[in-house]
Amino acid sequence: MSEKPAYSPGLEGVIAGESAISYIDTALNRLIIRGYDLVELTQQASYEELAYLLLYGDLPTTAELDGFNATLGQERTVPEAVMSILRQAPASVHPMSLLRTAVSALEFHDPDATEHSTPANIRKTIRLLAKIPTLITAGHRLAQGQEPIAPRNDLSQAGNLLYMLHGKEPAAYETAAMNVSLILYAEHGYNASAFAARVTASTLSNLHAAITTGIGTLAGPLHGGANEAAMEMLLEVGGKDQAEAWVLDALAKKKKIMGFGHREYKNGDSRVPSMKAVGRDIAEATGDSAWVETADIIEATMDREKGIFPNVDFPCAYTYYMMGIPIPLYTPIFVSSRVAGWAAHIIEQLENNRLIRPNHIYTGSEEKPLKPLAERG
Ligand code: COA
Repeated sequence: MSEKPAYSPGLEGVIAGESAISYIDTALNRLIIRGYDLVELTQQASYEELAYLLLYGDLPTTAELDGFNATLGQERTVPEAVMSILRQAPASVHPMSLLRTAVSALEFHDPDATEHSTPANIRKTIRLLAKIPTLITAGHRLAQGQEPIAPRNDLSQAGNLLYMLHGKEPAAYETAAMNVSLILYAEHGYNASAFAARVTASTLSNLHAAITTGIGTLAGPLHGGANEAAMEMLLEVGGKDQAEAWVLDALAKKKKIMGFGHREYKNGDSRVPSMKAVGRDIAEATGDSAWVETADIIEATMDREKGIFPNVDFPCAYTYYMMGIPIPLYTPIFVSSRVAGWAAHIIEQLENNRLIRPNHIYTGSEEKPLKPLAERG
């Protein structure tokens, strides 16, 4: 066999395409989305404005945002046939698996199911953005033996999600915290799930298939599942007095510390300062600083021992915990935001499509004679 060509495990550093959606500026630790700094978006915009920016290419005017919000409000109800999938699922199913299945099933009831133009893909995405929080909260309540709470059309994406989860209108600071986390989760370049969604779209499969691909890819603990894994870890650590010793022991055992490290950022994740600030706001509002203190010790220990920094999932995990959000819903909530980013990638892929089909190095057996079944014993 000829000498092996070079390749990059995990496609690290490989440029797999062009995109006008976002840019990770690792030198300045910034994330730019369609020309806007993500930190500024967290300070000045709603999640809905960012979703509009991702789908239509620029920020909405007041009238455009009003129209967008009105459509989101009208589209929040989930068809009964899809609700019955949630009702029939075993209570033990992970909410990400339930959501992946329900999102796939929404295709059957979408009036644009057989339309694949950009306007149709935007309409389908808006319906998904509106319905996914309903699916997440209904699935959770049904698994707890409770009836789902009907969505409200007068609340924001963040407010309605919290309302349907807890059954009461959230405080303004809770809605604000959720809004920032949704903004931080919306888009992040050629990450694993966006790339996977683009691969599916590149075969000219449909939008629901590509979004379902994204959900399946986000679920793992090396990607979006890290926010749940980070909280499980924080619970296992048991408090600030055990935090340093726990991390040292885990590192000695070559364990990964969940919510730390990133393929692109080696000097810190640009989204972390905004999420940490929200975490501190929630700690102050709830009068419970224990999680923040434990997290700070874990961060300091990881920096000192490994020079590895937290990613957005770490502060998001304990912030959601302090907000009373059940841990298995953290990654589904990530989905409720990232749908806008995936859709932007799917639409961009389709507007300049070429089938994504890389090559590999064969490491299998040399050619050998085929024994007929009867001779193989
Ligand atoms: N805890 C401990 N060590 C870590 C680590 C972590 N969270 N993340 C990376 N490292 C170490 C690796 O052990 C490896 O060390 P080595 O060179 O001594 O073997 C080195 O840093 C490089 O890590 P690697 O896993 O090869 O980097 P990657 O670019 O392939 O992976 C992640 C990036 C995100 C998958 C990885 O950092 C990770 O698994 N983090 C935890 C899961 C997580 O939080 N994911 C969410 C990402 S937003």
